[in-house]
Amino acid sequence: MIIAQISDTHIALGTPDADRRIRDFERTIEDINSLNPQPDVIIHSGDIVQNGRLDEYAQAAAIMKEVNGPVHLMVGNKDDRANLRKAFPSTGYLKSSSGFVTYSIDDFPLRLIVLDTLNPGSNKGDFCEDRAASLIELVDADPKKPTAIFAHHPPFIVSEGPDPLHFETEDILERFRSTVQRSSSVLGMFCGHVHRGVAGHVGNIPVLVMPCIATTLRRGDYPPGLTTCPIYHIHKYDPDWGISSEIRIVRDL
Ligand SMILES: [Fe+2]
Repeated sequence: MIIAQISDTHIALGTPDADRRIRDFERTIEDINSLNPQPDVIIHSGDIVQNGRLDEYAQAAAIMKEVNGPVHLMVGNKDDRANLRKAFPSTGYLKSSSGFVTYSIDDFPLRLIVLDTLNPGSNKGDFCEDRAASLIELVDADPKKPTAIFAHHPPFIVSEGPDPLHFETEDILERFRSTVQRSSSVLGMFCGHVHRGVAGHVGNIPVLVMPCIATTLRRGDYPPGLTTCPIYHIHKYDPDWGISSEIRIVRDL
């Protein structure tokens, strides 16, 4: 089972780097389409657009319709749940009775649970008791099934960058971490948001955070030949070996 993860495309219209953000996203999709074997599923782990606007989502949808495989979307702090649902009306998984974009992809040997950590109006993440209850419910629906969790905000202190805490409070972060660790079926977590590639853990669960696709917003030092190359992640699951992850560099054309 192969998962391609993309994140933080931050599509904006009218900014000086708007065309480059669009091109970074397009080139990433072209690269995913060139993979052999093809991924079974593509996850966009949030901050699809910069301002949550419908015209930005229309641009993102036009880019994503070119991808060969099934794409599942998540919300980041820059996204707007209502406009996301309007822009992608055929995606039933975006609608939920709770109002959050939290869902499970159960069609593969590795179950993928997508969490909504958006707190509208804030760059920091939230994980309220309702969302904790939803995560418990999703895991308990098949308690022994190997599972990976995707969340926009990293559930650990990221020491690089100006503010290491990416949830509103340490208590909220702790609620998130303790809920994730409740089940031994969770084999790994994957995030975005900080725009740099970092790794951490929640208890014994490894967490991998991917850099942003938008190269103008990427943090960290890259050699000159790589500064305009988008980077994304490919996660592979084998029932005997578990999850392994590869960093994929989209080469300059
Ligand atoms: Fe973000």
